[in-house]
Amino acid sequence: MPEKDKYYVTTPIYYVNDKPHIGHAYTTILGDVLARYSRLLEIPTFFLTGTDEHGQKVFEAARRHQIEPQEQCDRTVVRFQELWRKLEITHDDFIRTTETRHVKVVQKILADLYARDQIYAADYEGWYCVGCERFFTEKDLLEGKCPECGRGVDQIVERNYFFRMSQYRDWLIEYIESHPEFIQPAHRRQETLGFLRSPLNDLCISRPKSRMSWGIELPFDRDYVTYVWFDALVNYISAVGYLADDARFARWWPASCHLIGKDILTTHTVYWPTMLKAMGLPLPRTVFAHGWWLVGRDKMSKSLGNVVNPMDMAANYGVDPFRYFLMAEMTLGQDASFTEDAFFNRYNADLANDLGNLASRVTRMIERNLEGVLPGAAPRSEAEAELISATLGAVAAMRENLVAMRIDRGLSEAMAAVREGNRYFEQNAPWKLARNGDQEELRRVLYHAAECLRIVSGLLYPVMPGKMAELRSSLGLSDHEIAPHIDKLAHWGAERPPVSVKPLAALFPRIDVAKALAESAAEPAVADSAKAAAPKAQAKTKAATTVEGVIVEYADFTKIQLRTARITAAERIEGADRLLRLQIDIGDEARQIVAGIAAFYQPQELVGRTVIVVANLKPARIRGVESRGMLLAAKQDDGSLRLLTVDGETAPGTPVG
Ligand code: ME8
Ligand code: MG
Repeated sequence: MPEKDKYYVTTPIYYVNDKPHIGHAYTTILGDVLARYSRLLEIPTFFLTGTDEHGQKVFEAARRHQIEPQEQCDRTVVRFQELWRKLEITHDDFIRTTETRHVKVVQKILADLYARDQIYAADYEGWYCVGCERFFTEKDLLEGKCPECGRGVDQIVERNYFFRMSQYRDWLIEYIESHPEFIQPAHRRQETLGFLRSPLNDLCISRPKSRMSWGIELPFDRDYVTYVWFDALVNYISAVGYLADDARFARWWPASCHLIGKDILTTHTVYWPTMLKAMGLPLPRTVFAHGWWLVGRDKMSKSLGNVVNPMDMAANYGVDPFRYFLMAEMTLGQDASFTEDAFFNRYNADLANDLGNLASRVTRMIERNLEGVLPGAAPRSEAEAELISATLGAVAAMRENLVAMRIDRGLSEAMAAVREGNRYFEQNAPWKLARNGDQEELRRVLYHAAECLRIVSGLLYPVMPGKMAELRSSLGLSDHEIAPHIDKLAHWGAERPPVSVKPLAALFPRIDVAKALAESAAEPAVADSAKAAAPKAQAKTKAATTVEGVIVEYADFTKIQLRTARITAAERIEGADRLLRLQIDIGDEARQIVAGIAAFYQPQELVGRTVIVVANLKPARIRGVESRGMLLAAKQDDGSLRLLTVDGETAPGTPVG
């Protein structure tokens, strides 16, 4: 954020065809963190998010649910708004493309472009991908399929309206080349320039209502609605007063940064700049395309059944640790892998061990030995040199890393300062000073350790507002000092009156990883592949420790009731490619079990087979389906499974042991 006069940051506006997932949460948290840092730097800030409510995707979701499209929007938008509240997102505005303030602006722009012959009618022949809502020419297709998503495409010939995008190609190439800050990171700029090496077509900007009526009506032809991208992109200007409030628009436009995922690079770096050029408006300073959150090594998708639900993550492990993990784990511009293992490890290492530990040591020591009063000043000696340089260094590094969009690096410097704080604490052993009654030295050490915490908590506040507010308030900062300002952070040892400190026992209680993994296996917030996704080598060592490292008593083994069971019915579970729903007969009882074997067995080949189940496993809901018990299977090296069966006929329910 190099500008000083203002910072206007946006997220994509999300489709309301489905509830939000971790990818949506990520971009919005990123926007929030940048907005909060910008406010910390005292830059006037405007942070915009919202929802994209028109178009085929939403139209079809409504049809699936047998409701009106507007009803589909109204029901889904609250899922986003609730999540943003829960995740402490501080957007200044939330725009919905079905709002009149937006619709009016889109129509004015269309009318103007049509009047100026920037939009014309022509016959269109091409291929349309419903999933991506995009038209492709014959040569765009990959083996007859959509080049973006690989799904089937429909051939279409119809009259439509076109935006004269092609005429801007040379101008756009020249603009991108002379404005290296426009498309970031650099490899995305190369991607767009690569795209622009081929001739640029005019952009089809309409849909006949007869085919799809859910959109903004063209002001010059009532039989058509606007193509969703020509509507959606305009949100970035309609929200800040374009053609409605000139002063406000002049205040915020051009945007400082459009944050997007790499999936919507072309629309933001080709369609949008040419649209703006045709309107005579300046371009946003930067379009920043971040990478993809993978689940383990897989793409997250509904059909793989591995979609991570951000509401569950926040509910189970806390909003702040979740925000911290997302920001610390992804190097902006590259893909990152989400696994619960990685989350637990980072949580325990950075938050529980380093930051939480320092916070509890310092505040408890002040309570016990200084009657809860933190002195307002203390002398400084050689002993503090490294602590001060690491802490103030982290402040400077954060500023630089924000400009470079390296939030992960900024955070790791902040954590390095925390570790320096712990080292300082160890080295100066305040507990010994207390024992020896050396009050003056004790006050000095606790004062400086608390200074480190005061600054670091301010530095981490944009990422973990809830927990850092708690920490700052326990350090005796007053209400108006909780939200930090840069001048206070960049300054060590400002004199202030003594304040009372409240002890913080466990800001980030340690997560018992084994227990947490077991719990989430029973109640998955994350689907299977996030758990099983640890790299292979790691998975192997783990298996080895369970086999070789842990000896169980026979009595423990007998706690597990194994029984034979006959499979009476089997079917796939919609939306979960890996799972089958099985009905089983275990002698005295019929039960339902969910088993992750869909990739290895067809439902019909299972019916009638006798398998072995853990009969007294705690019931669980797996992707919303009740499961009572677990099948046993041999797991082969390549990840494939073979079911355990019995040698010869046995009655269902026979004990195994
Ligand atoms: O494309 N990892 O909306 P959308 C990281 N309405 N980020 C992800 C992600 C993942 N796995 N999955 C999604 C649209 N995202 C249009 C945008 S803008 C004028 C119109 C994030 O609901 C990422 O920011 O499909 C991506 O660009 C966005 O969600 C797509 O959201
Ligand atoms: Mg999408």
